[in-house]
Amino acid sequence: MSVRVRAPATSANLGPGFDCAGMALELWNELEVSEADGTVVEVEGEGVSETPRDGNHLGLRAFALITDVEGKSFRFLNRIPFARGLGSSSATIALGLVAACLWEGVEPDPAELLPLAARLEPHADNIAACLYGGVTLAWEEEGLWRCRRIADSLPLETIAVIPEHSVETVTARAGLPAEVLHADAAFSSGRAALLGAALASGDAHLLAAAFHDRLHEPYRSVAAPLLGRLQEKPARGSAGVTLSGSGPTIIVWARHEESQACAEELAERFPDCRVLAFAVATGGTGAF
Ligand code: HSE
Repeated sequence: MSVRVRAPATSANLGPGFDCAGMALELWNELEVSEADGTVVEVEGEGVSETPRDGNHLGLRAFALITDVEGKSFRFLNRIPFARGLGSSSATIALGLVAACLWEGVEPDPAELLPLAARLEPHADNIAACLYGGVTLAWEEEGLWRCRRIADSLPLETIAVIPEHSVETVTARAGLPAEVLHADAAFSSGRAALLGAALASGDAHLLAAAFHDRLHEPYRSVAAPLLGRLQEKPARGSAGVTLSGSGPTIIVWARHEESQACAEELAERFPDCRVLAFAVATGGTGAF
């Protein structure tokens, strides 16, 4: 017996939607689980040297929330860059949870898996987009994470500028202040309202207006210096710039008709970075 599942990369926050908004991207990690003696873990691709090969592997910890990891082989294929703000840990958790459901012959239900996943990753914006696919809003209600898939596509192109250096989310979160100025909170909550309306309506002008944040991006820009550089000198065709999750990857939101020129300029200006255009992944984590 074996099961094969895939989980998409994600970009969380989308500017002012801190710990709430997320989108799934067409870049997929994979996991194959089959019968074996003992517990075997193999990892190929991104993050190979940083990944445990035992029950401490995040994917196995997720799997173990549903069923036993003993007597199984886990083969991970990682395509999502590690610790770059593209949801690699969420994808690993989602793979473990969905594979465990399929192993047990249970249809995976994202609404049931999201609160389980939040035990391993307490901010559930990445994992929500990863499980559901598309563009999502997630929130906590009476101690449980919930999610609504709000759109299948967006009216601007997503171009990721991925630096070589990594940033751990836990470090990026530790750098946020315990309190913020009322003026900054008011600014960001207004932009978050615009973001929700823009995502739901598919209005490109509203979306561009929403891409401003004062709750997390200013505090993270030291570890993600491209954010300030791309805000001060936007690339051709850029309608906005956001930090992807906790960074250091930057998302440049390009107008459709200029997205090719935008990607070319970014690749020329930042030769040490990977510059990749991503479509929204309309499917979430599942068998393939
Ligand atoms: N919302 C989370 C944060 C996403 O910004 O810390 C982490 O990838």
